[in-house]
Amino acid sequence: MLVEKGDWNIMENLWKRVDDYLNNQCIKSDLLMESILQSNKEAGLPSIDVSPSQGKFLYLLVKMIQAKYFLDIGTLGGYSTVWMARALPEDGYLFTLESNETHAKVARKNIFQAGFEDQVEVIVGKAIDALPTLNHTFDLAFFDADKENNPKYLEWALKLSKQGTVIVADNVVRDGKILYNESDDPRIHGLRTFFDMIAKEERIEATFMQTVGEKGYDGFLIGRIKS
Ligand code: SAH
Ligand code: DHB
Ligand code: MG
Repeated sequence: MLVEKGDWNIMENLWKRVDDYLNNQCIKSDLLMESILQSNKEAGLPSIDVSPSQGKFLYLLVKMIQAKYFLDIGTLGGYSTVWMARALPEDGYLFTLESNETHAKVARKNIFQAGFEDQVEVIVGKAIDALPTLNHTFDLAFFDADKENNPKYLEWALKLSKQGTVIVADNVVRDGKILYNESDDPRIHGLRTFFDMIAKEERIEATFMQTVGEKGYDGFLIGRIKS
């Protein structure tokens, strides 16, 4: 059946309904994570956190690779941060970088209420200024901040990596806008440069996953450092 003009959100409604249905089967009610979303909403933060199924994907990934130290760029209210922190071993540690002071304040409160204040450090400031101060080798890096700087974040992640380090980047498809030849959006150009670097970079093996759901149509880049 053809779709009428004005009905273009039909797909998005379907994706959202499938998310709602499967969230119930796989993720179940999660009061802690829901309270973080509520506190973000009360503080007026934009609702651009990862979705519950994506948050749980990150959580499972941390468990699967037994990540101990990780780097999280773009905290917002700490929703994805807390998903990942919940998978940390007792001696694990997470640095999360956030440039917006209000976002960082809300995140600190959420992280405290989730009980991770001893394992999570929120560093306020532009990620590009904070990265040179980190003297750690990370098992996992998650990029979810200003996409125009993903190329720089990749350079830093490579410096702070070892064999087996996993790099995940959010929002690499952006409704397919990654393809718009004449895009004047610096984020799209940043993402293309980022993929060009991945293409040439011998030290990384990578793939991507296109995603649909309540957060629309987007995708993750997933890479692993070979050496
Ligand atoms: N990872 C979060 C969502 C992050 S939204 C989650 O899923 O819950 C992107 C965040 O990156 C915003 O809070 C924004 O303020 C922050 N940001 C944007 N530019 C930044 C920069 N240069 N350095 C650090 N953080 C930045
Ligand atoms: C935006 C940022 C995100 O990290 C996201 O998941 C969705 C949207 C944004 O800046 O518009
Ligand atoms: Mg994102």
